[in-house]
Amino acid sequence: MGALEISQIKKAYGPLQVLKGVDIGLDDGGFLVLLGSSGCGKSTLLSIIAGLAEPTSGDVRLDGRSLVGIHPKDRDIAMVFQSYALYPNLSVARNIAFPLEMRNVPRADQEKSVAEVAKLLRIESLLERKPAQLSGGQRQRAAIGRALVRKPKLFLFDEPLSNLDARLRSEMRHEIKRLHGILGTTVVYVTHDQVEAMTLATQLVLMHDGQVEQQGHPSQIYDQPRTMRVADFVGSPPMNFISGKVKNGRFRSDTCPIEFDYNGPHTTSDIVIGIRPEAIGVATHGQTSGIEINASVNLVELTGPEQLISTRVGGQDLILTAPANIEARPGKAIRLSVAPQSLHFFQASNGNRL
Ligand SMILES: Nc1ncnc2c1ncn2[C@@H]1O[C@H](COP(=O)(O)OP(=O)(O)OP(=O)(O)O)[C@@H](O)[C@H]1O
Ligand SMILES: [Mg+2]
Repeated sequence: MGALEISQIKKAYGPLQVLKGVDIGLDDGGFLVLLGSSGCGKSTLLSIIAGLAEPTSGDVRLDGRSLVGIHPKDRDIAMVFQSYALYPNLSVARNIAFPLEMRNVPRADQEKSVAEVAKLLRIESLLERKPAQLSGGQRQRAAIGRALVRKPKLFLFDEPLSNLDARLRSEMRHEIKRLHGILGTTVVYVTHDQVEAMTLATQLVLMHDGQVEQQGHPSQIYDQPRTMRVADFVGSPPMNFISGKVKNGRFRSDTCPIEFDYNGPHTTSDIVIGIRPEAIGVATHGQTSGIEINASVNLVELTGPEQLISTRVGGQDLILTAPANIEARPGKAIRLSVAPQSLHFFQASNGNRL
């Protein structure tokens, strides 16, 4: 069991209000990913959950029990950081066993637990090595092993993979997903990586300036961002925004010659249209069914199976992703098409979704 309830958590360091009333709920066995720009308070929140920092006010409950004032070692929570902090002079086996040793677990039980965890993490052959004799990914496995061995109710991960190269990252990401599938332990995980966030999370939380901007299933956050800030943060490359006005049932941009029949929610104010790069198609021949946009190509970046095409329409940049076989050359004209149902609508004055 490990249902987590964070209510109205505030934290100030002197005059600096770092957390401004954070509310987050997570079911037992859920995998929550915290996303947000640097300095928005993610690590501070993890420290408060772990008991390494005390909140100024508010409550954290694990399985209904308040954790405020409870010593970190009595919280049944294990934490894995970006810097894995293994003891350099201890073997992998002794590193993993360390939390059990601290709790005076009998030697035989320690060895049994270490063997179990090593099997799960596929590091059985590395148990006698010292950390310096391991690769980055192996070291991170050992650090995760040390957290796993305690069988906690809750795991906290603070950017655990950010020291690894792209390939190892994706390997470890699969590993963490697999482990979560097997163990079913509740997880709170901080990352800057979009792919990690979207693929690992059962719940995604976007934090901004010490507050929760939106919590939901990743697909919900991606498909229905509550604000322009969320829309901008989730998705890569980020959503395109076009500001303009709706008049007599027609949207007209302020910045470029884009206009079309408006079928969005009723509004009388200035609005911003959001279009995901993957929702823009290249119109090849003849008629297109969607909104048509004539643009010129600025830059083409091939990423392998896809290309990122940066275009310009009047005073407006539009970036789109397209299959690699679509012809696009810098300086050339390109005809784009967008399905009206893929548009997002925001209120210009406050950035809220309409
Ligand atoms: N012990 C401290 N004393 C004073 N200010 C602190 C302390 N710890 C963190 N802060 C400040 O609180 C804010 C939030 O920091 P925090 O580490 O939670 O950010 P973060 O979201 O984890 O950022 P990053 O993505 O860069 O890791 C920052 O402005 C930071 O400078
Ligand atoms: Mg941090």
